[in-house]
Amino acid sequence: MYSRKTIAMSLGSLLAFSMLAGCGSSSSTDSGTAAKTDGAPATGGKAEGKSLTIGFAQVGAESGWRTAETGSVKDEATRRGIKLMFADGHGKQEDQIKAIHTFIAQKVDGIILAPVVVTGFEPVLKEAKDAGIPVVLSDRAVTVKDDSLYATLVGSDFVEEGRRCADFLAKKMNGKGNIAEIEGNIGSAPQLERKKGFEAEIAKYPGIKITKDAEGKFELAKGKEVMEAFLKSDAKSINAVFAHNDDMALGAIQAIEEAGLKPGKDIMIASIDGEKTMVQAVADGKANFCVECKALLGPGLFDAMNDAIAKKKLPKKTVMQDDQFDETNAKKLVETRKY
Ligand code: AHR
Repeated sequence: MYSRKTIAMSLGSLLAFSMLAGCGSSSSTDSGTAAKTDGAPATGGKAEGKSLTIGFAQVGAESGWRTAETGSVKDEATRRGIKLMFADGHGKQEDQIKAIHTFIAQKVDGIILAPVVVTGFEPVLKEAKDAGIPVVLSDRAVTVKDDSLYATLVGSDFVEEGRRCADFLAKKMNGKGNIAEIEGNIGSAPQLERKKGFEAEIAKYPGIKITKDAEGKFELAKGKEVMEAFLKSDAKSINAVFAHNDDMALGAIQAIEEAGLKPGKDIMIASIDGEKTMVQAVADGKANFCVECKALLGPGLFDAMNDAIAKKKLPKKTVMQDDQFDETNAKKLVETRKY
Protein backbone atom coordinates (compact mmCIF):
# COMPACT_ATOMS: atom_id res chain seq x y z
CA MET A 1 0.00 0.00 0.00
CA TYR A 2 2.76 2.41 0.87
CA SER A 3 5.88 1.39 -0.92
CA ARG A 4 7.12 3.38 -3.89
CA LYS A 5 9.88 0.79 -4.02
CA THR A 6 7.28 -1.87 -4.84
CA ILE A 7 6.22 0.14 -7.85
CA ALA A 8 9.84 0.51 -8.94
CA MET A 9 10.50 -3.21 -8.47
CA SER A 10 7.46 -4.14 -10.51
CA LEU A 11 9.12 -2.50 -13.49
CA GLY A 12 11.59 -5.33 -13.46
CA SER A 13 14.52 -6.41 -11.39
CA LEU A 14 16.96 -5.87 -14.21
CA LEU A 15 18.30 -2.44 -15.02
CA ALA A 16 15.92 -0.57 -17.22
CA PHE A 17 17.28 2.20 -19.35
CA SER A 18 15.04 4.75 -20.87
CA MET A 19 16.09 7.29 -23.44
CA LEU A 20 14.59 10.74 -23.36
CA ALA A 21 15.17 13.40 -25.92
CA GLY A 22 13.35 16.32 -27.38
CA CYS A 23 12.42 19.89 -26.67
CA GLY A 24 9.62 19.90 -24.08
CA SER A 25 8.78 23.10 -22.31
CA SER A 26 8.74 22.15 -18.65
CA SER A 27 11.23 23.80 -16.37
CA SER A 28 11.88 23.30 -12.70
CA THR A 29 11.65 25.71 -9.82
CA ASP A 30 12.80 25.25 -6.20
CA SER A 31 16.03 24.14 -7.75
CA GLY A 32 18.42 26.00 -5.50
CA THR A 33 21.25 28.39 -5.96
CA ALA A 34 23.08 26.68 -8.78
CA ALA A 35 20.27 26.57 -11.27
CA LYS A 36 19.91 28.86 -14.26
CA THR A 37 16.14 28.65 -14.40
CA ASP A 38 15.23 31.81 -16.26
CA GLY A 39 13.23 29.90 -18.85
CA ALA A 40 15.64 30.88 -21.62
CA PRO A 41 16.19 28.21 -24.25
CA ALA A 42 18.78 26.04 -22.58
CA THR A 43 21.59 24.56 -24.57
CA GLY A 44 22.59 21.05 -23.70
CA GLY A 45 24.23 20.47 -27.01
CA LYS A 46 27.91 20.40 -27.87
CA ALA A 47 29.48 23.43 -29.54
CA GLU A 48 29.25 21.79 -32.97
CA GLY A 49 25.49 21.32 -32.52
CA LYS A 50 25.35 17.57 -31.83
CA SER A 51 23.18 16.90 -28.80
CA LEU A 52 24.69 15.48 -25.63
CA THR A 53 24.03 11.99 -24.33
CA ILE A 54 24.12 11.82 -20.55
CA GLY A 55 23.79 8.71 -18.36
CA PHE A 56 21.96 9.10 -15.05
CA ALA A 57 22.58 6.39 -12.43
CA GLN A 58 19.79 7.06 -9.94
CA VAL A 59 19.52 5.48 -6.45
CA GLY A 60 15.97 4.18 -6.94
CA ALA A 61 12.51 5.39 -5.95
CA GLU A 62 12.65 5.06 -2.18
CA SER A 63 10.99 8.38 -1.35
CA GLY A 64 8.81 11.16 -2.70
CA TRP A 65 11.95 13.31 -2.71
CA ARG A 66 13.73 10.82 -5.00
CA THR A 67 10.77 10.65 -7.39
CA ALA A 68 10.72 14.46 -7.58
CA GLU A 69 14.44 14.56 -8.29
CA THR A 70 14.14 11.99 -11.08
CA GLY A 71 11.32 14.06 -12.62
CA SER A 72 13.40 17.23 -12.44
CA VAL A 73 16.37 15.62 -14.20
CA LYS A 74 14.18 14.08 -16.91
CA ASP A 75 12.27 17.34 -17.49
CA GLU A 76 15.44 19.38 -17.72
CA ALA A 77 17.06 16.92 -20.13
CA THR A 78 14.00 17.21 -22.36
CA ARG A 79 14.04 21.01 -22.11
CA ARG A 80 17.67 21.12 -23.20
CA GLY A 81 17.38 18.53 -25.97
CA ILE A 82 19.72 16.17 -24.12
CA LYS A 83 19.46 12.41 -24.65
CA LEU A 84 19.16 10.98 -21.15
CA MET A 85 19.93 7.34 -20.40
CA PHE A 86 18.17 6.68 -17.10
CA ALA A 87 19.14 3.73 -14.90
CA ASP A 88 17.18 2.94 -11.74
CA GLY A 89 19.62 1.37 -9.27
CA HIS A 90 16.82 -0.14 -7.13
CA GLY A 91 18.82 0.88 -4.05
CA LYS A 92 21.68 -1.47 -5.00
CA GLN A 93 25.27 -0.37 -5.53
CA GLU A 94 25.98 -3.29 -7.89
CA ASP A 95 23.15 -2.12 -10.18
CA GLN A 96 24.59 1.39 -10.21
CA ILE A 97 28.08 0.11 -11.05
CA LYS A 98 26.65 -2.03 -13.88
CA ALA A 99 24.82 1.02 -15.22
CA ILE A 100 28.01 3.10 -15.20
CA HIS A 101 29.84 0.34 -17.08
CA THR A 102 27.08 0.42 -19.70
CA PHE A 103 27.30 4.21 -19.97
CA ILE A 104 31.08 4.01 -20.47
CA ALA A 105 30.68 1.29 -23.13
CA GLN A 106 28.15 3.48 -24.91
CA LYS A 107 30.57 6.43 -24.83
CA VAL A 108 28.17 8.89 -23.21
CA ASP A 109 29.29 12.52 -22.93
CA GLY A 110 28.84 12.63 -19.16
CA ILE A 111 27.46 10.69 -16.20
CA ILE A 112 25.28 11.91 -13.35
CA LEU A 113 25.55 9.62 -10.32
CA ALA A 114 23.38 9.72 -7.17
CA PRO A 115 25.37 7.17 -5.16
CA VAL A 116 23.44 4.77 -2.93
CA VAL A 117 26.37 4.57 -0.46
CA VAL A 118 29.58 6.56 -0.02
CA THR A 119 32.17 3.78 -0.40
CA GLY A 120 33.02 1.39 -3.25
CA PHE A 121 32.66 3.66 -6.27
CA GLU A 122 36.35 4.54 -6.70
CA PRO A 123 37.26 1.85 -9.29
CA VAL A 124 34.30 2.56 -11.59
CA LEU A 125 34.83 6.32 -11.28
CA LYS A 126 38.43 5.75 -12.34
CA GLU A 127 37.20 3.82 -15.39
CA ALA A 128 34.97 6.77 -16.32
CA LYS A 129 37.86 9.20 -15.86
CA ASP A 130 40.19 7.04 -17.97
CA ALA A 131 37.52 7.04 -20.70
CA GLY A 132 37.42 10.86 -20.54
CA ILE A 133 33.81 10.94 -19.26
CA PRO A 134 33.10 13.55 -16.56
CA VAL A 135 30.97 12.52 -13.58
CA VAL A 136 28.74 14.96 -11.71
CA LEU A 137 27.45 13.73 -8.35
CA SER A 138 23.82 14.35 -7.54
CA ASP A 139 22.83 15.12 -3.92
CA ARG A 140 25.11 12.54 -2.25
CA ALA A 141 28.86 12.40 -1.68
CA VAL A 142 31.27 9.52 -2.27
CA THR A 143 34.40 8.80 -0.25
CA VAL A 144 37.36 8.69 -2.63
CA LYS A 145 41.10 9.24 -2.15
CA ASP A 146 41.32 11.12 -5.44
CA ASP A 147 38.65 13.80 -5.72
CA SER A 148 39.49 14.42 -9.38
CA LEU A 149 37.38 11.29 -10.05
CA TYR A 150 34.28 13.49 -10.09
CA ALA A 151 33.79 17.02 -11.37
CA THR A 152 31.50 18.38 -8.65
CA LEU A 153 28.65 17.52 -6.29
CA VAL A 154 25.37 19.43 -6.50
CA GLY A 155 23.33 19.06 -3.31
CA SER A 156 22.41 20.19 0.19
CA ASP A 157 24.44 20.37 3.40
CA PHE A 158 23.19 17.21 5.14
CA VAL A 159 25.16 17.87 8.35
CA GLU A 160 23.47 21.24 8.71
CA GLU A 161 20.03 19.70 8.02
CA GLY A 162 20.56 17.26 10.92
CA ARG A 163 21.89 20.03 13.15
CA ARG A 164 18.81 22.17 12.51
CA CYS A 165 16.47 19.30 13.48
CA ALA A 166 18.41 18.81 16.73
CA ASP A 167 18.37 22.51 17.55
CA PHE A 168 14.61 22.66 17.04
CA LEU A 169 13.79 19.53 19.07
CA ALA A 170 16.19 20.34 21.92
CA LYS A 171 14.59 23.76 22.38
CA LYS A 172 11.06 22.39 22.03
CA MET A 173 11.88 19.72 24.65
CA ASN A 174 13.28 22.35 27.04
CA GLY A 175 16.56 20.48 27.09
CA LYS A 176 15.30 17.20 28.48
CA GLY A 177 13.74 13.92 27.34
CA ASN A 178 14.26 10.94 25.06
CA ILE A 179 14.55 10.89 21.28
CA ALA A 180 14.03 7.97 18.89
CA GLU A 181 16.10 8.23 15.69
CA ILE A 182 15.02 6.59 12.41
CA GLU A 183 17.96 6.46 10.03
CA GLY A 184 18.21 6.39 6.25
CA ASN A 185 19.98 3.59 4.40
CA ILE A 186 23.14 2.82 6.33
CA GLY A 187 26.34 3.96 4.62
CA SER A 188 24.67 6.62 2.47
CA ALA A 189 25.84 10.23 2.69
CA PRO A 190 22.51 11.59 4.01
CA GLN A 191 22.37 8.90 6.73
CA LEU A 192 25.96 9.47 7.86
CA GLU A 193 25.94 13.24 7.64
CA ARG A 194 22.46 13.93 9.06
CA LYS A 195 23.23 11.63 11.99
CA LYS A 196 26.54 13.42 12.56
CA GLY A 197 24.97 16.90 12.55
CA PHE A 198 22.03 15.83 14.71
CA GLU A 199 24.00 13.94 17.33
CA ALA A 200 26.72 16.61 17.65
CA GLU A 201 24.06 19.25 18.40
CA ILE A 202 22.10 17.01 20.81
CA ALA A 203 25.35 16.30 22.70
CA LYS A 204 25.22 19.94 23.85
CA TYR A 205 22.11 19.07 25.91
CA PRO A 206 23.01 16.64 28.72
CA GLY A 207 19.33 16.19 29.64
CA ILE A 208 18.46 14.72 26.23
CA LYS A 209 19.23 11.12 25.29
CA ILE A 210 18.85 9.27 22.00
CA THR A 211 17.36 6.11 23.46
CA LYS A 212 16.27 4.32 20.29
CA ASP A 213 17.89 4.11 16.89
CA ALA A 214 17.17 1.93 13.85
CA GLU A 215 17.41 1.93 10.04
CA GLY A 216 14.30 2.86 8.06
CA LYS A 217 15.98 2.97 4.62
CA PHE A 218 14.35 6.30 3.70
CA GLU A 219 11.08 4.39 3.02
CA LEU A 220 7.63 5.14 4.45
CA ALA A 221 6.67 1.52 5.13
CA LYS A 222 10.00 0.80 6.80
CA GLY A 223 9.74 3.98 8.91
CA LYS A 224 6.34 2.83 10.09
CA GLU A 225 7.63 -0.64 10.91
CA VAL A 226 10.56 0.78 12.93
CA MET A 227 8.26 3.13 14.86
CA GLU A 228 5.85 0.28 15.63
CA ALA A 229 8.73 -1.68 17.14
CA PHE A 230 9.90 1.34 19.16
CA LEU A 231 6.37 1.89 20.51
CA LYS A 232 5.93 -1.79 21.36
CA SER A 233 9.16 -1.85 23.35
CA ASP A 234 8.44 1.25 25.46
CA ALA A 235 5.96 3.83 24.11
CA LYS A 236 5.87 5.98 27.24
CA SER A 237 9.57 6.79 27.22
CA ILE A 238 9.65 8.41 23.75
CA ASN A 239 9.25 12.19 23.72
CA ALA A 240 10.38 12.91 20.16
CA VAL A 241 11.30 11.31 16.84
CA PHE A 242 14.03 12.43 14.47
CA ALA A 243 13.59 10.78 11.07
CA HIS A 244 16.32 11.22 8.45
CA ASN A 245 13.64 11.91 5.82
CA ASP A 246 9.96 12.83 5.49
CA ASP A 247 8.75 9.48 4.18
CA MET A 248 9.98 7.70 7.31
CA ALA A 249 8.48 10.46 9.48
CA LEU A 250 5.13 10.03 7.71
CA GLY A 251 5.33 6.28 8.42
CA ALA A 252 6.14 7.04 12.07
CA ILE A 253 3.12 9.37 12.27
CA GLN A 254 0.87 6.53 11.08
CA ALA A 255 2.33 4.14 13.66
CA ILE A 256 1.88 6.68 16.48
CA GLU A 257 -1.74 7.31 15.51
CA GLU A 258 -2.46 3.58 15.27
CA ALA A 259 -1.03 3.20 18.79
CA GLY A 260 -3.65 5.69 20.00
CA LEU A 261 -1.20 8.56 20.56
CA LYS A 262 -1.07 12.05 19.05
CA PRO A 263 1.92 12.72 16.78
CA GLY A 264 3.16 16.29 17.14
CA LYS A 265 1.80 16.45 20.70
CA ASP A 266 2.43 13.23 22.67
CA ILE A 267 5.49 12.58 20.53
CA MET A 268 7.21 15.42 18.66
CA ILE A 269 8.41 14.83 15.11
CA ALA A 270 11.21 16.43 13.09
CA SER A 271 12.45 15.35 9.67
CA ILE A 272 14.11 16.43 6.43
CA ASP A 273 13.11 16.88 2.75
CA GLY A 274 10.22 19.39 2.64
CA GLU A 275 7.77 17.13 0.83
CA LYS A 276 4.34 18.70 0.51
CA THR A 277 2.70 15.91 2.57
CA MET A 278 5.16 16.52 5.41
CA VAL A 279 4.73 20.30 5.33
CA GLN A 280 0.97 19.61 5.45
CA ALA A 281 1.52 17.38 8.51
CA VAL A 282 3.35 20.28 10.19
CA ALA A 283 0.49 22.64 9.20
CA ASP A 284 -1.99 20.13 10.71
CA GLY A 285 -0.01 19.88 13.98
CA LYS A 286 0.85 16.19 13.40
CA ALA A 287 4.53 17.02 13.04
CA ASN A 288 6.58 19.86 14.44
CA PHE A 289 9.51 20.61 12.13
CA CYS A 290 10.80 19.88 8.69
CA VAL A 291 13.99 21.06 6.99
CA GLU A 292 13.85 21.28 3.23
CA CYS A 293 16.36 19.38 1.12
CA LYS A 294 16.23 20.85 -2.39
CA ALA A 295 15.07 18.08 -4.75
CA LEU A 296 14.59 19.77 -8.11
CA LEU A 297 18.25 19.51 -9.03
CA GLY A 298 17.95 18.99 -12.81
CA PRO A 299 18.91 22.54 -13.91
CA GLY A 300 21.88 22.77 -11.53
CA LEU A 301 23.14 19.31 -12.48
CA PHE A 302 23.08 20.01 -16.22
CA ASP A 303 24.68 23.45 -15.76
CA ALA A 304 27.47 21.72 -13.84
CA MET A 305 27.71 19.00 -16.49
CA ASN A 306 28.06 21.59 -19.28
CA ASP A 307 30.91 23.22 -17.36
CA ALA A 308 32.56 19.86 -16.67
CA ILE A 309 32.37 18.89 -20.36
CA ALA A 310 33.84 22.29 -21.26
CA LYS A 311 36.64 21.49 -18.77
CA LYS A 312 35.86 24.59 -16.69
CA LYS A 313 37.14 24.62 -13.12
CA LEU A 314 34.30 23.77 -10.74
CA PRO A 315 34.04 23.91 -6.95
CA LYS A 316 33.98 20.39 -5.46
CA LYS A 317 30.51 21.13 -4.09
CA THR A 318 27.70 23.49 -5.01
CA VAL A 319 25.55 23.79 -1.90
CA MET A 320 21.78 24.31 -2.12
CA GLN A 321 20.12 26.74 0.32
CA ASP A 322 17.37 24.92 2.23
CA ASP A 323 14.29 26.44 3.88
CA GLN A 324 12.54 25.07 6.97
CA PHE A 325 8.97 24.67 8.14
CA ASP A 326 7.34 24.82 11.58
CA GLU A 327 4.01 25.91 13.03
CA THR A 328 4.78 29.56 12.22
CA ASN A 329 4.98 29.17 8.42
CA ALA A 330 3.80 25.70 7.30
CA LYS A 331 0.17 26.68 6.64
CA LYS A 332 1.25 29.63 4.52
CA LEU A 333 3.90 27.75 2.54
CA VAL A 334 2.37 24.32 1.97
CA GLU A 335 0.72 25.33 -1.30
CA THR A 336 4.04 26.58 -2.67
CA ARG A 337 5.66 23.13 -2.43
CA LYS A 338 6.39 21.58 -5.81
CA TYR A 339 6.97 18.02 -4.54
O1 AHR B 1 20.02 12.10 -0.76
C1 AHR B 1 18.83 12.74 -0.42
C2 AHR B 1 17.96 11.81 0.38
O2 AHR B 1 17.75 10.61 -0.31
C3 AHR B 1 16.57 12.33 0.68
O3 AHR B 1 16.46 12.98 1.89
C4 AHR B 1 15.80 11.06 0.79
O4 AHR B 1 14.42 11.23 0.81
C5 AHR B 1 16.36 10.35 -0.35
O5 AHR B 1 15.98 9.10 -0.51
